Amino acid sequence: MRELDRGTAEALARAARRARRFAYAPYSRFRVGAAVLDEQGRVYTGCNVECGSYGLSNCAERVAIHKAVSEGARRVVAVAVAGPDDRELTPCGACRQVMAEFGTQFVVLSRRGRTRVYSFPDFLPRAFRSPKEHR
Ligand code: THU
Repeated sequence: MRELDRGTAEALARAARRARRFAYAPYSRFRVGAAVLDEQGRVYTGCNVECGSYGLSNCAERVAIHKAVSEGARRVVAVAVAGPDDRELTPCGACRQVMAEFGTQFVVLSRRGRTRVYSFPDFLPRAFRSPKEHR
């Protein structure tokens, strides 16, 4: 896919904002939502899930991607992210690597109601891909 349809991007950003409601962030109070679009047009959502042993916390993006994969998705077309108060939030390095694993093409950021679409390689140029990849 060369471009992500505007309506699809807006719908994905809305899904990410909705998913943010379920954020479990009692330690950071930083609430994040994410939504993933797979190659079959299915949408999966996620929120950050923290743990009292802080290092075990998970970002919203990885929760959403892992939900998708655990339900059969193998390719991610786009990942939308919604940060607290609709601030623009760019995905962390760990999530970018997981996005690369599943062939993510677009990152959708929602900021004060404005939805912006970026091409994934802008977020992780020359990404590592395992030579042992088996799908
Ligand atoms: N977080 C996300 O869920 N996504 C990001 O892109 C950055 C950070 C979460 C992790 C943690 O629960 C909280 O935000 C503060 O870092």
